[in-house]
Order: sequence, then structure tokens, then C-alpha cells
Amino acid sequence: MNVSWHPQKVSHLQRQQFNGHRPVLLWYTGLSGSGKSTLANAVDALLFEQNCHTYLLDGDNIRHGLNGDLTFSDIDRVENIRRIGEVSKLFIDAGLIISTAFISPFSSDRKMVRSQLPEGQFIEVFVDTPLHVCEARDPKGLYKKARKGEIKNFTGIDSLYEPPENPEIHIKTGEPGFETIEVCAQHIVTLLLNMGIVSAK
Ligand code: ADX
Repeated sequence: MNVSWHPQKVSHLQRQQFNGHRPVLLWYTGLSGSGKSTLANAVDALLFEQNCHTYLLDGDNIRHGLNGDLTFSDIDRVENIRRIGEVSKLFIDAGLIISTAFISPFSSDRKMVRSQLPEGQFIEVFVDTPLHVCEARDPKGLYKKARKGEIKNFTGIDSLYEPPENPEIHIKTGEPGFETIEVCAQHIVTLLLNMGIVSAK
């Protein structure tokens, strides 16, 4: 390949000490319309308030740029997640708390990203909103189009979603204890405090 890894003067540990928290990847997964982006945004804002260095990668946004060449075929969804995994590793190396909000429907892809990070740095957040609720919300009118056959390979309609079996964080939206976005976001931040990833300001 004729390329070699170039060592960097500023170490990962130095970056981590400078930031004052552990770097982790908060990997939100769930159906379209489940609330991944909204929740990830709310958690990101709370962490930012706690002086954490954070960044958020969102499926719809990334598909406008970095992954603008990808479709929703199975093979392109795998490539979508592979690239996001690589980008996330860079953010982790920079010492940040990186949040990603992608449907990421295939469990093997999520496992692949997990396997590339040290134990404890991949935190899977399952935004567990039932299909019928996502479909009733239909914020972008995409479920309606998918039901009419105007969009093919739509997750939950004619494309598979494999729910996480053992997510670190399971958000059962709408159920007791998970009634609002604010409550769910606070729940996640409290877990991160309890896990020693961030410390109270
Ligand atoms: S993923 O499956 O490859 O992880 P990603 O999170 O990047 O998906 O993009 C999902 C978003 O793209 C959805 O929220 C929706 O707005 C839009 N979208 C457009 N077509 C589809 C489709 N066929 N299936 C799912 N989402 C789609």
C-alpha cells in the first residue's frame, strides 16, 4: 500500500486530560422517526453545558455530504455505517464525546464499529419507538410514500431493522420514565455520570 502510520506529538491521553472527560461514542440506533436525532441533540446540549467536548453526526445531514453518494440498498447502508465508524474513531482519538444518529439497521454493522473501539467506549443507545408510533408521526411523510411504493427499501416497511439485543442504554420512548425527550436526555446524562464518563460541573 506504500503508506505508513505517522506518530503524533500530542498523545491521546494528553487530549483526554485536556478535555476533562472520557471519550466515548454514543451510538443511537432506531427506526426513522423514532426520535434518535432529537434525543441525541438534547443529550449533546446537556453535555456541552457540562463543559464536555462533543460532536454530533446525524444520518440525514451526513447523507448530504460525506455519504451523499450512497443509496439505501443493503450494501450502501453497510458502507454508510463503515464510514461513520471510521469518522467516529477519529473523534474518539481527538478525545471527544461523539454521538451518532443513524438508523444503522444491521446488528453486524453495529458490532463491527463496537469491535474497533476499546471496551467501554462504544455505548449503544436503542431508541425503542414502535413502528406504528414512528409511522403515525411520519415527520417527513416518508412512511406514507413507502406504503404507496414510492420509496423502496424503507426501513420497517420493506427493509429489515434488527433491534439491539443488549444495548448499554435502552430508551423505551413513551413508557413510564421515558415520557418526554427532556426526561430521556437527563436519564442518559445521569447514566454517563454514574459510569464515570463525565463528572458533574
Ligand atoms: S441507515 O439505514 O443507512 O443507517 P441513515 O440513518 O443514514 O440510514 O438515514 C436515514 C434517514 O434517511 C431517514 O431518517 C429518512 O429521513 C431518510 N430515508 C430516505 N430513504 C430511506 C429509506 N429507504 N429507508 C430509511 N430511511 C430513509
